[in-house]
Amino acid sequence: MRSNRRGVAVLAALISVLACAPTDESPSPAGHRAGAPGIGDPDFPRDGNGGYDVAHYDVVIDYTPASKRLEGVTTIEAAATHGLSAFNLDLAGLDVHEVTVDDSPATFTRQGDELTVRPAGPIDERDRFTVKVSYAGTPNAADASADLGTYGFLPTPDGAFVASEPNGSKTWFPANDHPADKATFDFTITVPAGLTALANGERAGQPTTTGGKTTFRWRERHPMVTYLATATLGKFELREGRTPGGIPNLAAADPRFSSTLDGLYTTSAEVTDYWATVFGPYPFGSTGGVVDDYAAGYALENQTKPLYGGFNPDESIIVHELAHQWFGNSLSIKRWKDLWLNEGFATYAEWLWSERKGRRTAETTFKKFHSRPATDPIWSYPPGRAKPGDLFNLSIYTRGAMTLHAVRRAVGDQTFFALLRAWATEHRYGHVTTDQFIELAERMSGKDLGALFDAWLFQPRRPA
Ligand code: ARG
Ligand code: ZN
Repeated sequence: MRSNRRGVAVLAALISVLACAPTDESPSPAGHRAGAPGIGDPDFPRDGNGGYDVAHYDVVIDYTPASKRLEGVTTIEAAATHGLSAFNLDLAGLDVHEVTVDDSPATFTRQGDELTVRPAGPIDERDRFTVKVSYAGTPNAADASADLGTYGFLPTPDGAFVASEPNGSKTWFPANDHPADKATFDFTITVPAGLTALANGERAGQPTTTGGKTTFRWRERHPMVTYLATATLGKFELREGRTPGGIPNLAAADPRFSSTLDGLYTTSAEVTDYWATVFGPYPFGSTGGVVDDYAAGYALENQTKPLYGGFNPDESIIVHELAHQWFGNSLSIKRWKDLWLNEGFATYAEWLWSERKGRRTAETTFKKFHSRPATDPIWSYPPGRAKPGDLFNLSIYTRGAMTLHAVRRAVGDQTFFALLRAWATEHRYGHVTTDQFIELAERMSGKDLGALFDAWLFQPRRPA
């Protein structure tokens, strides 16, 4: 049995070499092999994929709220980072009808949330290729462990609320679903006439209506991670214009939240313009926000259009989500363990806003949290190492923000604000790690901050 199987394998390998069709696991003579099923984040081993880098997603979907049925065609432009005999995409649920690679039919298999695509011929290292996936079905919510809540493509009474952090994009389009791979996006979203579809970036042409359906086109021309993609749709009231500083601004509210529309519009404008004076020029083509009637219990900083789930956003949460446009969206983390680089910064932005408005100073907020007893859970959870089972722990937010305040105390206001700005500028549209931030803080201050960062980010106890 065993030797028999080996004999078959040898024969198969021989045939594949002769036919120049490499087998899956072992590299072919030309160095082609299957891309890894994960991008290499040890905390989320199956998220994202190896062997390629996406440049652009073209996501075309048609959604019918009454039946909750989604029909999609997603076209991905990517470049191979090693020779590929096959590669994976992340896709949860939904039926795949057809996959092509460079317009030729490809074979595919599904296993869990992995869609494995085997192109008709191998793809050479550095070659660009286009993969097109046609699919349909009812999206399932992502509902992971611990504190993540429900996320993904979530039905509402009149449409869908689409919030995908950390890995829910795969519930509505095939993707390299991990923040380590950023790409530009086009969205074409068809909904029953009378509804509005809101995706990232700016409109690419006016909506068109035929046969009782309206198609909306949006384009995000700046790099974006998959978890910030949205296609929130339903009944919406819109207010559009520009911020006083000249940035296109779009606020949208479900009719149940129409009383919040003007406040959302005005505050988003003021906050976007203000952060541009503190963190450096706004990184994207438009700003705004969306309030939908889905009681998510959280907001998400969807690129250009933060999404508020079922509540009237107050000033501090708008301040938080818009600060993410710099920290989290323009600058993205490579690994989830560094999430404090998103949440600590956005939380500290809330403290800065309060200080600027003549309310509580950041120093007072810092002291208030620091006076929490030594047994408080924020002291046993070091924020510099976000845990996959408890990603959005309060410590990531609050102790992350306290870390920044501790840096401010150590280096002084002038260096601290120059540091925030340099951080946002040097890594604009790129990826960042905690080590890079520590390095920049030390370089700009000329101080050894190793002990400070270690105590605030990595020790399971209250810093002195
Ligand atoms: N990043 C969001 C914030 O600004 C939190 C997202 C929470 N995501 C989730 N699946 N619960 O705070
Ligand atoms: Zn946040």
